[in-house]
Amino acid sequence: MDLKAYLQERSTLVEQALQDLMPAKEVYPPQIHEAMHYSVFAGGKRLRPILCLAAAEAIDKDYKPLLPVACALEMIHTYSLIHDDLPVMDDDDYRRGKLTNHKVYGEGMAVLAGDALLTYAFEILAGYGQKYEKQAVAWQVLREIAVAAGTEGMIGGQVVDLESAGKELADKELLTYIHTHKTGALFCVSLRAGALLAGANPEELACLTLYAEKFGLAFQITDDLLDVVGDQKKLGKPIGSDTKMNKLTYPALYGIEKSRELVQEAVEEAVAALAKLSGETKPLEFLLRYLLEREF
Ligand code: IPE
Ligand code: IPE
Ligand code: MG
Ligand code: MG
Ligand code: MG
Repeated sequence: MDLKAYLQERSTLVEQALQDLMPAKEVYPPQIHEAMHYSVFAGGKRLRPILCLAAAEAIDKDYKPLLPVACALEMIHTYSLIHDDLPVMDDDDYRRGKLTNHKVYGEGMAVLAGDALLTYAFEILAGYGQKYEKQAVAWQVLREIAVAAGTEGMIGGQVVDLESAGKELADKELLTYIHTHKTGALFCVSLRAGALLAGANPEELACLTLYAEKFGLAFQITDDLLDVVGDQKKLGKPIGSDTKMNKLTYPALYGIEKSRELVQEAVEEAVAALAKLSGETKPLEFLLRYLLEREF
């Protein structure tokens, strides 16, 4: 198994499940369903769903039943990207190699497409929970996903990201808050949801949570680095977006070399977190290597 083949296989699986779950484009009113499809099927890497499935494998459980949950996480992520790109947020014109949602459908429809994806994700999760054998676990997962997406999770991170832009605040604590919340929270809950629903014991859950925290941190530092040294064609989104908005980022605060070291450090800590798991942890190791080599 190599990394490329693995990511390809899993993202195809997620893609198919998303096709099956999303409301058809033709459903009335078609404008909104078309706008939702446009961003969901614009070709994201599907990392959050892939990590959700990989959590089950790492504890030697079947990942297939988790697909609807994995898809719901991707819908929440896609909503966050649509809103993140809006002129009142990061004001970006390209995403996933295509024009951003508001550039194609207008700002009003882009706001609604984001709202709709977030709401639909919880519709999917609620339906999944209704059929799940252990109700208490299903409710816990639903709640954890809501918290991760909310004001003490992703939204909180986006708020501080927005508010710190353009300010001369060389504050490491603030930067850590932004990264762990705007990006880390959804990664973390993706692995936790997979682990919980697959029946992880407390020790396994703790290992996967630690892995997820380190993964999320390394991922967002790399995202910041790619905004400086990346290639727009490979990334599918503009570089220099953070500089344009004067964002508080790792390269801005620590410099490029130190940021790279911090990625390496987080990756090593994530690898260590996998040691006690008895299932197939190769995919989770692969995904860390991907972070180190990442160009897109
Ligand atoms: C981009 O996430 C937004 C961040 C949290 C940095 P991804 O790099 O996972 O974006 P897609 O889903 O592949 O487009
Ligand atoms: C976005 O962070 C995080 C969320 C969408 C929650 P960024 O603003 O750095 O993401 P990109 O670089 O636009 O993908
Ligand atoms: Mg942003
Ligand atoms: Mg952005
Ligand atoms: Mg970025």
